[in-house]
Amino acid sequence: MTNDDTTRPGPARPVHGPLLSVRDLTMTFPGGRGRSAGPVRAVDKVGFDVARGETLGLVGESGCGKSTTGRMIVRLLEPTSGSVTYDGRDISHLSQRELRPLRQEIQMVFQDPHSSLNPRRTVARIIAEPLLVQGRTAAEARRRAAELMELVGLIPEHIDRCPHEFSGGQAQRIGIARALATGPRLIVADEPVSALDVSVQAQIVNLMGRLQRELSFAHLFIAHDLSVVKRVCDRVAVMYLGRIVEIGPKARVYDAPAHPYTRSLLSAVPLPDPVRERARERITLLGDPPSPASPPPGCAFHPRCPKARQICRTETPELGPPAPGEVRQVACHFPETP
Ligand SMILES: Nc1ncnc2c1ncn2[C@@H]1O[C@H](COP(=O)(O)OP(=O)(O)OP(=O)(O)O)[C@@H](O)[C@H]1O
Ligand code: SF4
Ligand SMILES: [Mg+2]
Repeated sequence: MTNDDTTRPGPARPVHGPLLSVRDLTMTFPGGRGRSAGPVRAVDKVGFDVARGETLGLVGESGCGKSTTGRMIVRLLEPTSGSVTYDGRDISHLSQRELRPLRQEIQMVFQDPHSSLNPRRTVARIIAEPLLVQGRTAAEARRRAAELMELVGLIPEHIDRCPHEFSGGQAQRIGIARALATGPRLIVADEPVSALDVSVQAQIVNLMGRLQRELSFAHLFIAHDLSVVKRVCDRVAVMYLGRIVEIGPKARVYDAPAHPYTRSLLSAVPLPDPVRERARERITLLGDPPSPASPPPGCAFHPRCPKARQICRTETPELGPPAPGEVRQVACHFPETP
């Protein structure tokens, strides 16, 4: 396998600081969907870094703001406030014209592969398109598209087929090949396996993990399932109702979760060992997540939290710096301290 064209484009740059820095990132939609017609604070002062070549998992229940966060980072959405800094440059409010050169470097993989691929185009055209935009000749772009198909485990001879001739898992491989075509340095994958059959989810997750290791792109991997994220991430951030409630290295968060919400999510993940599975405590949350159009006061998790006390109803816990001797951050007045 060759990956010459899939490594970083352009001249070498100084390698210092995180590749991606998100600070106080906020998105307020003017009109709500479904349960509310008022403004919706879908993402509320979210902050994290992603180092070069690192994978950060972003997890949380449906509607907590994961996709909105991802879409602001790739600038499909313009943040209401806060900043997205990519490779030292604030890209939060760049115009579409200013963003154009960065589109090669920051790519997105979407949840539903079939609806994100143009059904009337061949795979050759889908994958080659960003290369043609880069100024490659048609022959070069086609050759590279065939190489990329091989890289993601597709048969290059199928290059002239259309997306509907592929299964969901294969179509997602096409989406991944397209994202890799320009040699991105950052990939935001928004639930890349949740629309796929369980039997192929692991294959695609493993493929993304392998590609990330071989090509060293930084990776924001969004999922609602903690067990999926665990396979690929170095660090994990847990979101609840638009905010990050816990973030830290994978081993620390998975082995000793400190936020009651993280603990409840993890308690629902089946353990491979049946003895441990039978013995472990399950934390059942009360009710559904509240609407981001009318978040509860204080800690937004308090109506569902088994540990909530009076202060939780009035004071919002902030995601402060890690406690002394600790590596992860937790937004909770009473974190577990295992
Ligand atoms: N364009 C929009 N206009 C109004 N509200 C929106 C818009 N997009 C998202 N929302 C709302 O913002 C909140 C966060 O949505 P988002 O899609 O980011 O969540 P998510 O965590 O990705 O959920 P899922 O797991 O279901 O994909 C939800 O309440 C959603 O209804
Ligand atoms: S701040 Fe209180 S309500 Fe919120 S998670 Fe911590 S203990 Fe629960
Ligand atoms: Mg989403």
